[in-house]
Amino acid sequence: MPDRLRVLLVEDIATDAELIAHALKRDGFDAVFERVDTEAALTARVASFAPQVVLSDFSLPGFSGMAALELVHGLSPETPFIFVSGTIGEERAIESLKCGASDYVLKTNLARLGSAVRQALERTAERAARARAEAELAEAHQRQRMLSRRLIRAQERERADLARELHDEVGQAFTALKIQLEMLRRAKDADETAVRIDECAEIVGSALTQVRNLSLGLRPPQLDEFGLVSALRSHVERMARTATTDIGFEADPQIGRLHPDVEIACFRIAQESLTNALRHAQADRIRVLLRINADTLMLVVQDNGRGFDVRAASEQALRGTSMGVAGLHERALLAGGIVRIESEPGRGTEVVARFTLKPQGRGPSGGG
Ligand SMILES: Nc1ncnc2c1ncn2[C@@H]1O[C@H](COP(=O)(O)OP(=O)(O)OP(=O)(O)O)[C@@H](O)[C@H]1O
Ligand SMILES: [Mg+2]
Repeated sequence: MPDRLRVLLVEDIATDAELIAHALKRDGFDAVFERVDTEAALTARVASFAPQVVLSDFSLPGFSGMAALELVHGLSPETPFIFVSGTIGEERAIESLKCGASDYVLKTNLARLGSAVRQALERTAERAARARAEAELAEAHQRQRMLSRRLIRAQERERADLARELHDEVGQAFTALKIQLEMLRRAKDADETAVRIDECAEIVGSALTQVRNLSLGLRPPQLDEFGLVSALRSHVERMARTATTDIGFEADPQIGRLHPDVEIACFRIAQESLTNALRHAQADRIRVLLRINADTLMLVVQDNGRGFDVRAASEQALRGTSMGVAGLHERALLAGGIVRIESEPGRGTEVVARFTLKPQGRGPSGGG
């Protein structure tokens, strides 16, 4: 009987207990009652019966109501405890409230018992709800802190990568160029000069490509100039040129310029999902799709690879060093969207991001 209120009576007089039970039933309570009148029985019943409310006499033979209150609060601090007594004086009543009793009701006025129990239960429920909300908030803060820490680390890692690439690739190219120029200065004849100039041109050409790739990786200029579809199409094509996987891109023709927040979020989500599919999925087919209807932009990145356990990966990502999957959700949220990742080991992966488009976006918010 899970829905019936469990009431524990601390009462030595059986007929008084019956009157109390009767008063509650008359007031509409569907309750089950247990009665105890010793400390040992009270201790045992609080554990085994798990009462939702305790109604206690003030004076019991060999055992005081105040001791019962202390005992119940020690064992189950959240259970409301109401004194129901014939003998409680005003001073003792006030003292009992100070000690944590929820209320006191005189046996001569049991008509008030129902509302006293109801109020005590409501207060307990409110406290529990507040505690739950506080715990959820604390958890959200904790998550936020972990995420910020992860973001800062990811940013540092990105900077370190950039610094290394600048130093190793571009720096080396310039060193080689300097050597070639020195040799050019000392060239003995026109033929040698021509060879050196060719070499210089080649070095500059490849350095240029490296710088372009670096800058594309940081932020594709196409995104700001021509918008999401154009930037994403070139990104996919660039990835497809170097990969052995069949990668395809499709976009609804009516997608125009969108809010810059949506464009960058969508681009980054596609970029990360595509990288993940190439790095982890061992797929032979990847599709990147951009769809638009009345007020929703939908990005889909699907692969037919090995799939993975999304929950486990997200939790691991929060603790570990990877940022991708956790970052997808944050990216989308920042632009007012949501991401859903569907994947099962052995059955491929589908990342779907949805953004609600606001009509006052930059330029037309995408046809439709
Ligand atoms: N498309 C996919 N197919 C198979 N496994 C995937 C796919 N996407 C993600 N995973 C799995 O989920 C894990 C977490 O992905 P996430 O992008 O968070 O990290 P990462 O790619 O390993 O590192 P980072 O993105 O931070 O450089 C990956 O290590 C991989 O095991
Ligand atoms: Mg990743």
